[in-house]
Amino acid sequence: MAVQHWSPSSWRERKALQLPAYPDAGALQAVEGRLSSLPPLIFPGEITQLKARLAAVSRGEAFLLQGGDCAESFDELGQMPVESTFRVILQMAVVLTYAASCPVIKVGRIAGQFAKPRSSDTETAQGVTLPSYRGDIINGAEFSADVRTPDPQRLLTAYSHSAATLNLLRALAQGGFADLHRVHGWTADFVRRSPQGERFEELADRIDQSLAFMEACGFDAAKAPQLHAVEFYTSHEALHLHYEEALTRHDESCDRSYGASAHMLWLGERTRGIEGAHVEYLRGIDNAVGVKLGPAARPEDVLALLDRLDPNHEPGRIVLIARMGSDKVADALPPLLSAVRDAGRTPVWCCDPMHGNTVTSSNGYKTRDFGRILDEVRGFFAAHRQEGTYPGGLHFEMTGQDVTECRGGAQALGDEGLAERYRTACDPRLNGSQSLELAFLVADVLRSRGR
Ligand code: TRP
Ligand code: MN
Repeated sequence: MAVQHWSPSSWRERKALQLPAYPDAGALQAVEGRLSSLPPLIFPGEITQLKARLAAVSRGEAFLLQGGDCAESFDELGQMPVESTFRVILQMAVVLTYAASCPVIKVGRIAGQFAKPRSSDTETAQGVTLPSYRGDIINGAEFSADVRTPDPQRLLTAYSHSAATLNLLRALAQGGFADLHRVHGWTADFVRRSPQGERFEELADRIDQSLAFMEACGFDAAKAPQLHAVEFYTSHEALHLHYEEALTRHDESCDRSYGASAHMLWLGERTRGIEGAHVEYLRGIDNAVGVKLGPAARPEDVLALLDRLDPNHEPGRIVLIARMGSDKVADALPPLLSAVRDAGRTPVWCCDPMHGNTVTSSNGYKTRDFGRILDEVRGFFAAHRQEGTYPGGLHFEMTGQDVTECRGGAQALGDEGLAERYRTACDPRLNGSQSLELAFLVADVLRSRGR
């Protein structure tokens, strides 16, 4: 199909996978009209700034840390879940910044991560077949005909939840909570008691001492705004194109369209078909765009996606997120790295060590092994070393809460332990102490690479 004029709705002429069938087209249209009249959630200048940060990552001068829930849930709004995830991202960032002496770009899978791709359109239980649960922006998880029917009103709820979450995140990032002088305050109680918690407290002591030393030398911390705040960006999978289209805004100052639902949007492994609706939508917006790549991705697919999504080779525009599986990364990743490198492309390369490593426990839970997650991260770094490319970042599913969803780690969580606090709306997440443990282990890898 020839590439033609783009508009926020030109995706509608393409085949759109993974979108729900709404029973009432009029109700959907009314909601879309309402959404398109609401304020943007983010400002176009922030998109430009994130791309500048990602451009630095692509040059090997910074590191990307992207993390959050697999799927956010409408029931989990409130200060606690958002704040606890944010504080763990801060802790991970500080560990990595300290270890690699390299700026860390912080991006949450948050404030809009509500839609999920599914392998089957329907689910059957006890002889009853209903639409699959596709995330809170579409329907509810409860297995009843009423709740499983896609409801367009949920698009408005997703918008208001995103706005409230983003508002809290902006306050946390800019309002004093993220100040490096408060690094001790970020550790949750259950993490403090773990070995990683103790290791973090030691690092926090060193940061305190460094700050006190610099201040004793006459450095005026009050005049250094970068000590007191962080830049924090949001991202989610651009799956629900009706929602993304309705939140597309035009930036008059540069005559460009941008997705106003988050700073960065990504394409899933299942919706990245070059002629499909999702690629069509994303090619026309100004945001940073991620692309998930599984072990079946061929070099020619990746190069075609780069040409379509980034014809002008714009620095910081593309983040390629490899999710290969710990046993496949060594074979599957290098050919992609070399093809992209030889095409003269310098996207950010990011490792998602979660989605290729999902298994079912002996007692029926969808889980992931901490050791395999770490193995994939190691394999990612090794592949880059081999190809002379830069391993630019990590993409995690995590939460700040004390859940029991992934096996292993210093807590040595086993199958029996999973039942205790298994709360995810979708895939298993690292809990607060597992996330911090991983950050320390990745920091060791980064440090050894620097030597
Ligand atoms: N602003 C700097 C940064 O974002 C330093 C900083 C302040 C920081 N608070 C932080 C770093 C919390 C990591 C975590 O890098
Ligand atoms: Mn997931």
